[in-house]
Amino acid sequence: MVPPNPPLLLYHMSLSLLLLLFLLVSKQASSASNAISLNQSLSGKQKLVSEGSNFVLGFFQPGNSSYYYIGIWYNKISQLTPVWVANRDAPITEPTTAELKICSDGNLVLLDQSNSRVWSTDANITSNNTVAVLLDAGNFVLKDASNPNKTLWQSFDHQTDTWLPGGKLGVNKFTGQIQHLTSWKSLDDPSPGIYSLGIDPNGSSQYFTVWNNSVNYWSSGIWNGEIFTAVPEMMSHYLYSFQYVSSDTERYFTYTVQSSDIITRFVMGISGQIQQLTWVENSQEWILLWSQPKQQCQAFALCGPYGSCNENAYPFCTCIKGFREQSPADWALGDRTRGCVRKTKLQCGKNNSSRQKKDRFFTMSNMRFPDNMQTFQVGCASKCELACLNNCSCNAYSFSGRACSLWYGDLLNLQEMYTGPSGGTLFLRLSASEFRSPRKEKRVVIIEIACSIIGTSALLAIIYLLIWTRKRKGMMGIPESAEGGLIAFRYNDLRRMSNNFSEKLGEGGFGSVFKGVMQDSKVIAIKKLERYSQGEKQFRSEVSTIGIVQHSNLVRLHGFCSEGNNRLLVYEYMPNGSLNTQLFHNNPNNVLNWKRRYQIALGIARGLTYLHDHCRDCIIHCDVKPENVLLDASFAPKLADFGLAKLLGRDASRVLTTMRGTIGYLAPEWISGSAITAKADVYSYGMMLFEIISGRRNFEQTDDQKPRFFPTLAARKLVDGDVTGILDQRLEGDAKLEEVIRACKVAVWCIQDDENCRPTMGQVVQILEEVLEVNMPPIPQALQMFDENLGTVVFSELSLNRSSEVKETSSTSATGSLL
Ligand SMILES: *[C@@H]1O[C@H](CO)[C@@H](O)[C@H](O)[C@H]1NC(C)=O
Ligand SMILES: *[C@@H]1O[C@H](CO)[C@@H](O)[C@H](O)[C@H]1NC(C)=O
Ligand SMILES: *[C@@H]1O[C@H](CO)[C@@H](O)[C@H](O)[C@H]1NC(C)=O
Ligand SMILES: *[C@@H]1O[C@H](CO)[C@@H](O)[C@H](O)[C@H]1NC(C)=O
Ligand SMILES: *[C@@H]1O[C@H](CO)[C@@H](O)[C@H](O)[C@H]1NC(C)=O
Ligand SMILES: *[C@@H]1O[C@H](CO)[C@@H](O)[C@H](O)[C@H]1NC(C)=O
Ligand SMILES: *[C@@H]1O[C@H](CO)[C@@H](O)[C@H](O)[C@H]1NC(C)=O
Ligand SMILES: *[C@@H]1O[C@H](CO)[C@@H](O)[C@H](O)[C@H]1NC(C)=O
Ligand SMILES: *[C@@H]1O[C@H](CO)[C@@H](O)[C@H](O)[C@H]1NC(C)=O
Ligand SMILES: *[C@@H]1O[C@H](CO)[C@@H](O)[C@H](O)[C@H]1NC(C)=O
Repeated sequence: MVPPNPPLLLYHMSLSLLLLLFLLVSKQASSASNAISLNQSLSGKQKLVSEGSNFVLGFFQPGNSSYYYIGIWYNKISQLTPVWVANRDAPITEPTTAELKICSDGNLVLLDQSNSRVWSTDANITSNNTVAVLLDAGNFVLKDASNPNKTLWQSFDHQTDTWLPGGKLGVNKFTGQIQHLTSWKSLDDPSPGIYSLGIDPNGSSQYFTVWNNSVNYWSSGIWNGEIFTAVPEMMSHYLYSFQYVSSDTERYFTYTVQSSDIITRFVMGISGQIQQLTWVENSQEWILLWSQPKQQCQAFALCGPYGSCNENAYPFCTCIKGFREQSPADWALGDRTRGCVRKTKLQCGKNNSSRQKKDRFFTMSNMRFPDNMQTFQVGCASKCELACLNNCSCNAYSFSGRACSLWYGDLLNLQEMYTGPSGGTLFLRLSASEFRSPRKEKRVVIIEIACSIIGTSALLAIIYLLIWTRKRKGMMGIPESAEGGLIAFRYNDLRRMSNNFSEKLGEGGFGSVFKGVMQDSKVIAIKKLERYSQGEKQFRSEVSTIGIVQHSNLVRLHGFCSEGNNRLLVYEYMPNGSLNTQLFHNNPNNVLNWKRRYQIALGIARGLTYLHDHCRDCIIHCDVKPENVLLDASFAPKLADFGLAKLLGRDASRVLTTMRGTIGYLAPEWISGSAITAKADVYSYGMMLFEIISGRRNFEQTDDQKPRFFPTLAARKLVDGDVTGILDQRLEGDAKLEEVIRACKVAVWCIQDDENCRPTMGQVVQILEEVLEVNMPPIPQALQMFDENLGTVVFSELSLNRSSEVKETSSTSATGSLL
């Protein structure tokens, strides 16, 4: 290194001094205030910053919009995330000449370039000396400057699509006015959309999600003091505290978060789901923790008229055959309210034009039927078809038994691949030109003959080709083989093996699984990955790392397919299905015995130990649950879907999003946004172990509307020394009591709040193998809150204890006492 010569050094120093000075000055100049008072105004790039600098208020542009809005967003996170918008349906085009200020009547107003009022707080104000302050909770408050305790107006009373901690969502008992969360219209447009969330106007304590202010399509169930009855998974939300307040003037819900480090929000999304998101600083993104209704296609009219929803596809919405998007630009931005329109007008009514053919019907099987059908009895299908054909506003019919159902007007809520009760085969009316026009009789005959000649020779050619390729393959050995001994399958081969993907084995977070049979009659499971966005090269490299991971308790990957947009994984087939189907069923003759359960618990622990400790890179599974434990012919367990979290992008959100609202197995560190380690798998394993012991889901709604949370019950009974009540009653006590206690202790250790207190999977194996002894675990703080004897839920203590007390003792006492 050559030192710079003195003059240059001096020059450098003065330059940096200047820079420093400049920085100081500019910092001072830009150090924003948190309030607007009488003679001040906000324009252009000026901003208010709340006192603790959690939130900012100013002009912003959503997405790619060319309009500007006054909004509040987070100051400390890298993604612009508006939580409130003032002028949501009155945008402005030029922020430098617009002004947010307090006007002569004391209200806060937004004036555009021509000085006309675009938006106002419109409060009933008697004071002429008001001040508007942005608070650190994200609330923008208009107060009387001489009496700051008196709130004249606040943004928390006029929420847009976001419900922040501390915000209220309820109803004013005097005016009957309901506070709604209303979705944005599209990704770019914050004006009120078609979906909203609000409390029951009739007085009960439940929430409804509402479409177009008219259709309630989901209900939270009533509040029983602890949870909403249709949302039992709220029980694991011990980082949140919900309160129901009913006073003389209002009744509402509010919630708080136990730590100010947690950045979280509820949003009424443009997809019609109410979503809870939390910011994960490590991965710099919002992750979806919870959403309702759980199935995306349950959002009412999600795809608009003549749009069809498919739960297993991404994007979820497409136009049905013969239709196209009415407004492709809106559609692309997530606003599908206008749905789809016919490509070709119906012939109906124009019956005298000889050249036009009559309308015809297109067969759509496995469809959820649209709303508003008219059903009557009829003798045969052709009469039903005729009934539809004879009325120009009839767009579809279905016929089943003797019941003929007709649909008039727009078709809403169509869903493909639907297997539920209100579906079947739908016949959709289309213009004849949407079908290939049928040939004249004579020609058909000629073509048929021609076809059969060509067909025979083609057949011969194909047979020859097959023999030839077989021979070639025989000479070259196995088909195309990739790294790690994996077979690179061809898509068409997989389609043939699975009989055009006809036998569905199951549906995971990452895609559907189909049964297939290879040429040597070996049975395979083919997983079609959905929402895979990465290129072929990365896919191959990730797949080959999964292929290397082999253990007797991990499902073996045979091969993959990567052609065009298709990404498939080929696994060994597990004849006894997944653990959830073996555990949670009502057939008393087919109860999984204790010995098998214990072996399953042990096997999965071994598989996870291998993933965590013995692979080249530590693999965190991220999605341990009974659905991902498969059982072979002898009920030996094998863990499925490992490595997929990584394969589908390192981001946690994908994993979580695919969980579709089941957070029961999620470790608290997911929710609090801290780093995820292998101990997150240990937590999920513990939750699953409880279910193996009890044979029931941990979160369960009992008949008396009182939800049951099994881990709390089990932990308490374990400590009280009464374990007989813990075991699955269907086993009628046929189990080694000592093993039940052991498993139960392990489970409670695994779900300790602090990850340092949880054992490693290796230790779990040793305990279950009876190599290590295990002490009585402490009851996790999270579980103590669900004590049935306590009438109320105590959240506040937790926040203090969890961070300080537990951590100090953890590394010494927990691991120490465990061993
Ligand atoms: C606002 O301006 C008026 C006159 O311009 C002045 O009398 C008043 O004191 C100012 N108020 C504040 C709060 O600065
Ligand atoms: C904005 O436009 C860019 C480029 O056209 C596109 O990639 C991006 O997805 C758009 N963002 C939104 C929110 O529409
Ligand atoms: C505004 O306040 C006055 C006086 O308190 C009251 O009489 C009036 O009804 C209020 N108006 C509204 C719309 O609340
Ligand atoms: C506010 O009202 C008081 C009394 O009504 C009046 O004396 C004062 O001048 C007003 N102030 C402003 C700034 O308008
Ligand atoms: C505002 O409230 C605080 C505490 O509640 C009280 O001490 C204070 O006197 C109040 N201020 C006014 C102007 O009423
Ligand atoms: C509210 O009550 C009325 C009358 O009892 C009923 O028609 C309506 O469906 C109820 N609304 C809801 C959302 O339950
Ligand atoms: C919503 O309801 C209004 C009338 O209440 C109706 O005019 C409008 O067409 C509806 N919107 C849709 C998308 O159906
Ligand atoms: C149908 O026939 C009537 C009478 O022949 C004629 O007036 C009418 O224009 C025809 N309509 C169409 C659509 O061809
Ligand atoms: C068209 O069909 C309707 C109903 O089937 C019939 O009343 C009408 O006469 C027909 N028009 C012509 C021009 O054939
Ligand atoms: C078609 O059906 C609708 C709905 O049932 C009915 O209102 C209308 O009158 C019918 N039109 C004809 C021409 O039969």
